[in-house]
Amino acid sequence: MRFTVPHRVETERLVLRRYTHADAEALGEVTTRNVDHLRRYMEWIQFEPQSIEQRRALIDTLNSQADAGEDYTLGMFLHSGEFIGGTGYHVRAHPDRLELGYWIDRAQEGRGLVTEAAVALTLVALNLAGADIVDVAHAPSNERSASIPRRLGFVRQEAVAHGCFDDGQMHDGVMWWATRDHLTQEPFAAAPRPRAWGADGTEFAWPAERADA
Ligand SMILES: CC(C)(COP(=O)(O)OP(=O)(O)OC[C@H]1O[C@@H](n2cnc3c(N)ncnc32)[C@H](O)[C@@H]1OP(=O)(O)O)[C@@H](O)C(=O)NCCC(=O)NCCS
Repeated sequence: MRFTVPHRVETERLVLRRYTHADAEALGEVTTRNVDHLRRYMEWIQFEPQSIEQRRALIDTLNSQADAGEDYTLGMFLHSGEFIGGTGYHVRAHPDRLELGYWIDRAQEGRGLVTEAAVALTLVALNLAGADIVDVAHAPSNERSASIPRRLGFVRQEAVAHGCFDDGQMHDGVMWWATRDHLTQEPFAAAPRPRAWGADGTEFAWPAERADA
């Protein structure tokens, strides 16, 4: 497989991990109360409402896709165990790239939690998972999404032919990207390295910092 994406990542406030069947109810509750919040930009919301059985089947599908290296979905949880959103990486045509995705419960917006997840997943993608480029794509009107890669110092590229969902239609997107060169700049340089574990619970070791970095 091309990428070695951890099954679990921990940051200061978050646990980002693969879903299990035990998450189906929380996934249902949070998704259901956020349908209006997510309707415009999340293409999958059109498949709501879903039964618990459908959500368990979805969890199986997402984990199978991750095992096959096709797409890597992670749930976003607080350390208390509360489920608050979704993140992970999409695998697109370019073999060296991982694309960050994210959504969060409206009640948790504005606390910097998605930024914290995005910092951690950028470090993981470029230092642990084997990607050379991390990108983010969003519909041109999605300013709130744009704020995340902007805050991280990603490079912005306009009107990239890349299907981005907006109000029922696919649009060319805005794409932002970063490489390992960005990791010497803030917010990455001072960011604590997230902890990350593989399928068997073995913790990933971070590459030694370059003495001249
Ligand atoms: C896009 C989305 C994930 C962004 O969520 P968010 O809450 O704005 O992002 P963050 O968690 O990083 O929070 C950033 C906000 O917290 C504030 N903040 C507070 N503490 C912070 C911290 N420690 N670090 C960074 N920002 C912090 C920032 O100033 C910013 O506030 P502002 O919105 O007033 O400018 C969310 O709006 C969403 O789920 N939208 C619907 C789904 C969607 O569009 N997904 C993206 C598809 S491409």
